[in-house]
Amino acid sequence: MGLQAAKLRVGIIGCGNISGIYMKNCRVLPGLKLVACADALPERAEAKAREHGIDALSVDALLESPEIDLVVDLTVPAAHSLVNQRALEAGKHVYSEKPLAVTRAEGEATVALAESRGLRVGCAPDTFLGAGLQTCINLIDQGVIGEPVAAVAFMAGHGPESWHPDPAFFYKQGAGPMFDMGPYYLTTLIAMLGPVARISGVARKSFAERIATSEARKGERLPVEVPTHYASTLEFASGPVASLLISFDVWAHNLPRIEVYGSEGSLSVPDPNTFGGPVRVKLAGDAEWREAPLAPGYTDNSRGLGASDMALAIAEGRPHRASGQLALHVLDLMESAQEAYETAQYVKLRSSVTRPAPLPVEKAVG
Ligand SMILES: NC(=O)c1ccc[n+]([C@@H]2O[C@H](COP(=O)([O-])OP(=O)(O)OC[C@H]3O[C@@H](n4cnc5c(N)ncnc54)[C@H](O)[C@@H]3O)[C@@H](O)[C@H]2O)c1
Repeated sequence: MGLQAAKLRVGIIGCGNISGIYMKNCRVLPGLKLVACADALPERAEAKAREHGIDALSVDALLESPEIDLVVDLTVPAAHSLVNQRALEAGKHVYSEKPLAVTRAEGEATVALAESRGLRVGCAPDTFLGAGLQTCINLIDQGVIGEPVAAVAFMAGHGPESWHPDPAFFYKQGAGPMFDMGPYYLTTLIAMLGPVARISGVARKSFAERIATSEARKGERLPVEVPTHYASTLEFASGPVASLLISFDVWAHNLPRIEVYGSEGSLSVPDPNTFGGPVRVKLAGDAEWREAPLAPGYTDNSRGLGASDMALAIAEGRPHRASGQLALHVLDLMESAQEAYETAQYVKLRSSVTRPAPLPVEKAVG
């Protein structure tokens, strides 16, 4: 089937902060054709529709439209489950922003519904399909650093209330640093090292409220409902162990983002919230870190690449990479991190996932 025939007609629900880049990319990424958008606040959808030359519809009209094959859900996390499931009920494939849902049970229901309807569900993040993280996956698979034995992943900052125009949701159930930023770090670790077997750790809520300093909400008090600092230990089914720190409570630090330690050397992984490099390697005996040439592929902000891969996968009859099952394993991990500190015990993951296939070089070029 040619690329033209494979194109899925896309309707975006949720026209907030992140929607602009999706609208730009859904017009150019292979397999996608952007046709309409909707938002609970119709004026937001209308403004975006004018900007991008597409139709603004009500959420109901978008879901009912026979002109739409794929719903891209860019609503806030607490709405993902409802919007995703309504789209599946309406017979559409779904690609959701992260997290897939705010509870494991809701995520399981979404994936089960898609399976029962013969529809696809995909989920962000898709940064592991970018040239930077694909280079890391290739280097690990080629054995460049030997057998992976351990990894670290650090996301530390002081929360999004300084820049996000509408930051309240970040401190509500289903958000916090683990549910907001965890998916980038956990998805990247899984894409490199495979599924996780069990997790332990602690967490804390360091501040009862936050004060917004972003221009739109300056001075607004944001109650904090969720832990804002996690220190977790992950054991991968294939053997390696990882130390994970995810925090909105840190003003400054000197930490790397992700490093993988192998029996023959170390791999420095780029920011998993981006698609490019740099990727650096230092093997036993090397005096300095060396920058690895990037695999061909996407290096710019290519959010939506996972939806594009899903559209092509449907046409080619193969599994897609940024899958609901992968997002469900990530969700399971995030909820398990919370359970681990609440029970002060290791939590065995309920779910698993086959590591997504690396992109073949010719596909990575896009
Ligand atoms: N902002 C970022 O930089 C960023 C980056 C990556 C991922 N994300 C993810 O993208 C999603 C959206 O984030 P955002 O920053 O754009 O949020 P936002 O609050 O700016 O926008 C969300 C939009 O969804 C609409 N909405 C909420 N519930 C709805 C419903 N039930 N039906 C229809 N519309 C509804 C809101 O009116 C709003 O316009 C989140 O899951 C977030 O984690 C955001």
